[in-house]
Amino acid sequence: MNKKTIKDIDLRGRRVLVRVDFNVPLKEGEVADDTRIRAALPTIRYLLEQEAVVILMSHLGRPKGKVVPELSLSPVAAHLEALLGRPVAFVEECVGPEVEALVATLHPGDVLLLENLRFHPEETANDPDFAAQLASLADVYVNDAFGAAHRAHASTVGVTQYLPAVAGFLMEKELAFLGQALQNPRRPYVAILGGAKISDKIGVIRALLGQADTLLIGGGMANTFLLAQGYEVGDSLVEADSVPMARQLMAEAGQRLLLPEDVVIADQFAAEAESRVVAADAVPAGWRILDIGPATVARYQQALAPARTVVWNGPMGVFEFPRFAEGTFAIARALAGLDAVTVIGGGDSAAAVQQAGLADKMTHISTGGGASLEFLEGKELPGVVALMDR
Ligand code: 3PG
Repeated sequence: MNKKTIKDIDLRGRRVLVRVDFNVPLKEGEVADDTRIRAALPTIRYLLEQEAVVILMSHLGRPKGKVVPELSLSPVAAHLEALLGRPVAFVEECVGPEVEALVATLHPGDVLLLENLRFHPEETANDPDFAAQLASLADVYVNDAFGAAHRAHASTVGVTQYLPAVAGFLMEKELAFLGQALQNPRRPYVAILGGAKISDKIGVIRALLGQADTLLIGGGMANTFLLAQGYEVGDSLVEADSVPMARQLMAEAGQRLLLPEDVVIADQFAAEAESRVVAADAVPAGWRILDIGPATVARYQQALAPARTVVWNGPMGVFEFPRFAEGTFAIARALAGLDAVTVIGGGDSAAAVQQAGLADKMTHISTGGGASLEFLEGKELPGVVALMDR
């Protein structure tokens, strides 16, 4: 990576403002999945070893510039305290006199978490005054929020105008693994794409078609490809507008693009729906596709067997419903058994791998959903670009 990291700068005793991505799911006021918090621990621990004053900041959800009490980061502070085994102070603001006064009392080795940055509209607007206020809290800025690096916000980009800006360990690791898949994959290289919508992923399909040896398609987005082949897809989720694009992608990809040959269908969108396996061109009216079928799983396993690099983004079906989870979990098991570099894009596919109990069998699970997609698409991430070059 051509960007400076926390190893390249003297942090001893300094006040360090760290952008983390603590945008984690909460349930009944508690952290429901702490993967992203754990992923930031190496950076936080290193800063503490350096006897830095650690000031953490993050967004949570999309409160759209208003204070939304359910999106307070307060439960995250409590959770982090338990993980770190030391006190984590929390302040119900992220800028202003109260925060400044509190920061002035901090000592080396203290940890403070600021309130949700997006309670201020200036955060997503990348407002320079707001960025300057954040920056005034510290001597150095660290970006460890890979998951938010595709956003040009005050806390990811604006703040770098005012402070020396370096990458944390998580940021460095994400860029290394995703970058390897992108620039120097061991071959055969198989990419797996799923998730609901094709329109969100056209850029990444294009980019992966340019690099991967094989591209396996599942999830809701496969339905639009099936429609483009002239199949009836019943009440399945489709994006009719994207059919011409799907046709074009199929023509460009030829044999390298694999689509479901059978599917699991449901009579309604519900966990308890009646389910059946049918050929991909035989979906009856009134039914909808919710998973890839067993023949497709077998075909995809066969395509994966020789792979030396696999990148996976997006589930194969509605894995939140146990009846429609088998396609996604079978792909996760296939990856777990490979002698290959396996990189899982964040978001739903990361959650699926966790649920399947196979997280520790993957080479790298990204903490960034949108960010990993944009990176794989070959886009520059503004939060990375803004950091100091080596
Ligand atoms: C994510 O969950 O992908 C990141 O935290 C970014 O969140 P956002 O899409 O609301 O900017």
